[in-house]
Amino acid sequence: MKWQKKDLLGLRDLKKEEIKILLETAASFKEVTTRQIKKVPALRGKTIVNLFYEPSTRTRVSFEVAAKRLSADVINIAAEYSSVRKNETLNDTGRNIEALKADLIVVRHNAAGAAAMLSRHLNIGVVNAGDGWHEHPTQALLDIFTLAEKKGKIEGLTVTIVGDIAHSRVARSNIWGLTKLGAKVIVCAPSMLIPNKIEKMGVSVTSNIDKALSKSDAVNVLRMQFERDQISAFPKRLNYFKNYGINQERIEKTNKDIVIMHPGPINRGIEISSEVADGLNSVILDQVTNGIAVRMAVLYLISGAREK
Ligand code: CP
Repeated sequence: MKWQKKDLLGLRDLKKEEIKILLETAASFKEVTTRQIKKVPALRGKTIVNLFYEPSTRTRVSFEVAAKRLSADVINIAAEYSSVRKNETLNDTGRNIEALKADLIVVRHNAAGAAAMLSRHLNIGVVNAGDGWHEHPTQALLDIFTLAEKKGKIEGLTVTIVGDIAHSRVARSNIWGLTKLGAKVIVCAPSMLIPNKIEKMGVSVTSNIDKALSKSDAVNVLRMQFERDQISAFPKRLNYFKNYGINQERIEKTNKDIVIMHPGPINRGIEISSEVADGLNSVILDQVTNGIAVRMAVLYLISGAREK
């Protein structure tokens, strides 16, 4: 099977084989990133625009590094310093970027479906770097890549995703990707942070983190988004850490070699202790590093598909 898609909008849309192509391509680019000269000419002459309507450190920087390692020209647009401030619509911004002869847009937006809307209106490729609560496909791909690197496989593993499942695009993309590749997924949170009918996505649900950890090979700890109105009502942050926070005692109690993941940014002492975040089982910074190879694979495959 060959990569055919002009866009990457989410993992829900992808077949298992397509996810495998992305991960295999990322593995070959990871080798490139270990060379003394970490650059290949694959996208020389291409222009990639990073269009970010929300704050980002990891995603924006690693898309830029990935594009530069592929020898593409990169332009970063932060919406707050662009004509978006003069009420230009997302669609008009995208069409103008296309008129400026960019080859691909990487977009982060607070509205679910923003990347899909752009892809319907543009001929150039569109990569979703996070749209509202909907999907964050490259984050899930780098999570899965890192877990496979650590455990040697994905099929048959059990992964707990703990935290604000309701508002998490990372959770949704991880659930689609992991279940398609044959992993079991447990979601764990207080009931107010679990979306209705999430079992239909093929996951099991619990509010007991110790029970979930006892069955798990890995835990992906989500950031508690206390800045959101719905969660600021959650009674006492300290109760969250006591009942759901990932600390050393909880991990040791399982007697298992659990891989600790977090998409970042971390709230230390809220959803995870510093001891665990910086401990031996943590792959949090490996996830960040692997984001470069994964995003190189995405940019390379999407750009190639445009030329068929
Ligand atoms: N994980 C993630 O999306 O981080 P940023 O918001 O820093 O890009």
